[in-house]
Order: sequence, then structure tokens, then C-alpha cells
Amino acid sequence: MKRIAVMTSGGDSPGMNAAIRAVVRTGLEYKIETYGVRQAYAGLMAGDFELLTSVEVSGILQRGGTILQTARNEEFKTAQGQAKGLRRLNEHQIEGLIVIGGNGSLTGANVLHKAGFPTIGIPGSIDNDIFGTDMSIGVDSALNIILEAIDRLRDTASSHQRAFVIEVMGRNCGYLALTAAILGGAELVVTPERPFSMQEVADALQDAYVRGKSHAICVVAEGAPFRVSELEHFLAKQAKVGFEIRVTILGHIQRGGGPSAFDRLLATRMGVKAVQALRDGESGKMVALNGRKMDLIPLEDAVSQLRPISESYFEMAKFLAR
Ligand code: F6P
Repeated sequence: MKRIAVMTSGGDSPGMNAAIRAVVRTGLEYKIETYGVRQAYAGLMAGDFELLTSVEVSGILQRGGTILQTARNEEFKTAQGQAKGLRRLNEHQIEGLIVIGGNGSLTGANVLHKAGFPTIGIPGSIDNDIFGTDMSIGVDSALNIILEAIDRLRDTASSHQRAFVIEVMGRNCGYLALTAAILGGAELVVTPERPFSMQEVADALQDAYVRGKSHAICVVAEGAPFRVSELEHFLAKQAKVGFEIRVTILGHIQRGGGPSAFDRLLATRMGVKAVQALRDGESGKMVALNGRKMDLIPLEDAVSQLRPISESYFEMAKFLAR
């Protein structure tokens, strides 16, 4: 194998640059040239490829976002779009592709593999919803940002005897919300995985007030059964809650900024493993963290379901909040 390509796709996540760097430099070690595909599948179909030398990936290890840029794309879901992408790869004499991204991006990678093109996936998404890996690139960094925000909000909440509703990302998965609630000492958490009514939120906040807490923190995942704006409206009409309510939506702040040490290591190991896999003739696999080991699992398995959250996390979040 002499020439491979790498792309980042879907929502960016801190550590994607560290993975790109690891791919390029591992390639150099094996005398493999690496081309960067700009703007994910859109760039693949347009043939927007650029040779990445050691210099291009110098100084990017600690940078958030992705130097290759990213996009969400509908056209590549069509047979015509896929044929275009394959044609561009062949035109550039690329022999293998590494796709760094979330579920949708890895589904695209699996399509290329099934079409006979050697493809390896790397899980990159702050949501930690990718099946088969303990952690995806960016999760740890996003969690650290959320925790810093919760700590700050608790200071002001406590000073004013207020309850804060904090919306965090995760439209299909409550991992960030649940983990941040446990680690941030929240009174309650609402996720897409469990039914939860606005009345239950009001009751829990009231309970915290009556028990004499100086503040209450409620973490709500983006994909919760109700929007935080609805909840704010609902709580405003519940005189019994006791606390004054404030709402903070963390939004895309959670995705920006440099990767944590954990994410730099994870991304670096995954980048190295992905190139080694291509060099060894593997295809249709995703690099996955399994305990402390770096495994290869079938892309088909990784994209066919979402990663479930451990039941014990839901239990912990409840009893630790008492
Ligand atoms: O998939 C990652 C993610 O950050 C989700 O948590 C969030 O719902 C979504 O992307 C936001 O997407 P966009 O950046 O397109 O607004």
C-alpha cells in the first residue's frame, strides 16, 4: 500500500486533529503517502484531496476542530454519490481510506468497504453513542467543558438559592448528560433513554428545596422528552418549587477547544491502529477501545446499533443525588 486518504466527517470533536496527525506520521513510518479529504463526503465526491506531509500536521495535536473541515452530507447516501466518491478515490490512486466520525459517517465508510474499497473507521463524536468502543474521540474533552460549566453555575446558583436547568448536547444519547450529572453532583438528569415528565422535574426540585439545599442542578440532554424552553415555561408556573429558575444551554461550546490528555492519547492510538490495519490488508473495521486494548471490530456491528449506557450509571445518578 502506497497511498491512503483520511477524512473527518459529521460533528467535529476535540482530538480529530491528533488522529489526523497520527495517521499521517504512521503512514510516513510505513512509506505510505496520506491525502487529506476536505469537508468529508462532499470533498470526496468533488475530489478535494490534498497531500499531507509531516509539515501539514505539525502543531495540530493540541488544536480543536479539524484542519480537514467536516460536513454532514445527503448526496453520499445515494448510489450516484457513492459512485462519484469511488471514482475520485480511483482517479487519485488512493488504495485505502480512513474515516473519522460518528454513526452516519461510519455508515458511509461501511458502504465504501462493501463496494470493495479498503476502508477503516475511527469513532469520533462527543456523544459517546458509537457501538463497540468504550470511548469515542472527543467525549472526554466535552465532558470536561460541561463539568467546568456546571461547577461555575453551581457557584452562582448557590449564592442566589436558585435552581439551574443546564442543557447539554446529545440528541440521541444521554451519555454526556448522565455522566456530567454524576460527576457534577447534579440533583437530577433527564435523558432521551428514560421517560421523564416536567412534573417530575418540578417535584425533584421542590424536594431539594424542602430538604434545605442551597441550589439545585438539573442536567437535560438535547434529545430529552421535552425542550428546556418548555420546561422553563412549565416551572415558571409551579410556585411550589421554591427555587428561582435559570436556564443555560451550553450548545456548541461543548465541541470546541483543545483535546484533553485522554483524547490526545485515544486519538493518537486510534490513528496509528487504523493505518496499521490498512497496511495489514484489513477493511470494513472500526478501531475500538476495549478496556485498555485497541481492537478492530466489524464496521457493520458498529453502525447497526447505538452504544447503550450502562444501567449502573442511571442508578448511581439517582442515589448519589440524595
Ligand atoms: O453528534 C454530535 C452532536 O454534537 C450532537 O450532540 C448534537 O446534537 C449535534 O452534533 C449538533 O449538530 P450540529 O453541529 O449540526 O448543530
